[in-house]
Amino acid sequence: MGSTRPVKIAGMGYYVPPHVLTNFDLEKMIDTSDSWIVERTGIRERRLASREVSTSDLAREAALACLKDAGVSPVDIDLIIVASASPDHLFPATACLVQHAIGALNAAAFDMEIGCTGFIYALATGTQYVASGMYKNVLVVGAECLSRLVDWTDRTTCCLFGDGAGAALLAEGQPGEGILGFHLGVDGSGGNLLSLPAGCARMPASKDTLEKRLHHIHMEGKPVFKFAVKIIDSAVTKVLEKCGRSPEDIGVLIPHQANLRIIESACARFGIPRERVMVNIDKYGNTSSASVPIAMCEALAEGRIRKGDLVVLVAFGAGLSYGSAAITW
Ligand SMILES: CC(C)(COP(=O)(O)OP(=O)(O)OC[C@H]1O[C@@H](n2cnc3c(N)ncnc32)[C@H](O)[C@@H]1OP(=O)(O)O)[C@@H](O)C(=O)NCCC(=O)NCCS
Repeated sequence: MGSTRPVKIAGMGYYVPPHVLTNFDLEKMIDTSDSWIVERTGIRERRLASREVSTSDLAREAALACLKDAGVSPVDIDLIIVASASPDHLFPATACLVQHAIGALNAAAFDMEIGCTGFIYALATGTQYVASGMYKNVLVVGAECLSRLVDWTDRTTCCLFGDGAGAALLAEGQPGEGILGFHLGVDGSGGNLLSLPAGCARMPASKDTLEKRLHHIHMEGKPVFKFAVKIIDSAVTKVLEKCGRSPEDIGVLIPHQANLRIIESACARFGIPRERVMVNIDKYGNTSSASVPIAMCEALAEGRIRKGDLVVLVAFGAGLSYGSAAITW
């Protein structure tokens, strides 16, 4: 990475709201079935935030759990980066709301929006601040309330997404441990395949945009699926090449949880046994930029990640964007 200081993940935490919406609940709301959703996506249920809860509230809980895990006080955080495609508001930045909520009195804060790849981009950005010596403790959060953005009358998208948040604290590590490298990219020509069309400068809110339901997530599932399968392959290959490693070295693969079939195709491509690939899409659906840190936290809690393991993260999403990271745990 050309860094002057090694950077490690010093702690992690996550939070999902307690309310569970199962596929059977969805059967009562739209024309769908548990078997269709499970077969096509692997999702069985997802979590939904209650009305009074928003993205910054989920982010706050994940951040506090992360700081507890790291044993670091909020006042010692230098920077907070929140990745979200469903922020509380367009501005102020959700990171500023989190800064206030956790009492991180000495922290700078900003948001990043690059769809479901957000956590990997935020991790890469935060890493540069620690590697350069500018900051000691950088808190990176992926947080989403996608239940507020999906069109609950559109069966092709509403069954896919869920709410949640995950966080990681970046700090200086010892030589030989921590973050090895990243591979980030976009293919902006596919921007129209996954978008929230209205409500900003291009298409301000109007009676027409409301009637046409343009304030909700729009997705062309098939081309996004094809993109995801292709890009997981190249993003994992490229980050391994950059770090001088090969697929056999992967201890645990933590893919973005968008579709079980996409994850399975990655396992087949790299010949990685399923037990070395973290899958929790059945419980949470696609939580966008929260999916990788939540999956990582659960992999740690289940003892799947051991000291010295090569952990590879990979995600893709709106943009169309993609990113991967390699970490020696
Ligand atoms: C969305 C996705 C699951 C749809 O699966 P698919 O196999 O491509 O299914 P299709 O869109 O071709 O739809 C097949 C049929 O199922 C129907 N269908 C769609 N959603 C349905 C649902 N929830 N329940 C029942 N039937 C449904 C369609 O209307 C279609 O019916 P038709 O053949 O009569 O027209 C899949 O394309 C996907 O996962 N894409 C990637 C999405 C993704 O990862 N997005 C996030 C990126 S971060």
